[in-house]
Amino acid sequence: MNVLVCGGAGYIGSHMVAHLIENNHQVVVLDNLKTGHKSSLLGGKLYIGDLRDSKILDKVFTENKIDAVIDFAAYSLVGESVENPLKYFDNNIYSTIKLLEAMNKHNVKYIVFSSTAATYGEPESTPIQESDRTFPTNPYGESKLAIEKILKWCDKAYGIKYTALRYFNACGAHINGNIGEDHNPETHLIPIILQVVAGKREKIMIFGNDYNTPDGSCVRDYVHVSDLASAHLLALKRLQNGGESRIYNLGNGKGFSVKEVIDVTRKVTGINIKAEIAGRRAGDPAILIASSEKAIKELGWQPKFNSLETIIETAWKWHKNHPNGYEEK
Ligand code: UFG
Repeated sequence: MNVLVCGGAGYIGSHMVAHLIENNHQVVVLDNLKTGHKSSLLGGKLYIGDLRDSKILDKVFTENKIDAVIDFAAYSLVGESVENPLKYFDNNIYSTIKLLEAMNKHNVKYIVFSSTAATYGEPESTPIQESDRTFPTNPYGESKLAIEKILKWCDKAYGIKYTALRYFNACGAHINGNIGEDHNPETHLIPIILQVVAGKREKIMIFGNDYNTPDGSCVRDYVHVSDLASAHLLALKRLQNGGESRIYNLGNGKGFSVKEVIDVTRKVTGINIKAEIAGRRAGDPAILIASSEKAIKELGWQPKFNSLETIIETAWKWHKNHPNGYEEK
């Protein structure tokens, strides 16, 4: 298959590119490199440009015979989205509309879309099922939910078949140790804990210890980035084989509290990690755990790196060898 990966130079996108190449597919990447890193690409043909620019989209679709699209291109900071919602609606929603226009124009019929657990907001029950209520509590989740709805209507009108994958907490790094997570600023739990391990940060702040959870800290479902990538390829194959448009959760179905993640990181790295209790972070639900039964059953998805130890080991391998991320200083 010849796959266009939008946002392919980002954290999850770059692992997708690696997975496609490892499975002998041809890859074209379109990325504006605003948050992505050129050196995260282990192959593929890179176009530097923005999805909101129809000209670059036309160029990509004209110069390459694209069979299917995987779209990761988006801003994804929950806090920032609350402060600047229009930035998120413009970059996330408008860019996907332009992409869908170009797909329709160039007769490309399959898209796998990067969605999020943030579409649910405060969960009704645990584990979360795809059919549960969606009521985002921030513009980031709202932007992804809006695109899911846009995709539904584009399927009806233009026959573009889609799979929207709602990730829970993406983490870990490629087992080869060459690509991994590099956000600036970094806001995610595991890379921040590893910055403490690496001596780049004095301590980890635990955002809240008064939640209604076993140890009082928030519980999340951590899923390895390479397992996310494998689900995308399975979803593409399913669409190519005539599968209907669908939405799937992707998580491991097991929750870990912030304190447990810190403990497992201490064990994996053998380094003591200073932690301190801080106030709650606005907008954090107490518990987010996925039911991924539907993805397991319908996509045949089998997460390979589903222990938290393995997830942290792979993340640590990347961070230890790349203390400055992709900036090789
Ligand atoms: N946390 C800390 N200290 C930190 C950083 C995080 O205690 O320094 C806590 C958070 O409060 C949260 C947990 O660790 O309880 C995980 O936080 P992350 O920021 O790593 O991830 P989130 O669960 O907030 O966000 C993830 C995805 C988002 C997505 C969201 C859905 O990264 O893209 O899930 O709710 F929108």
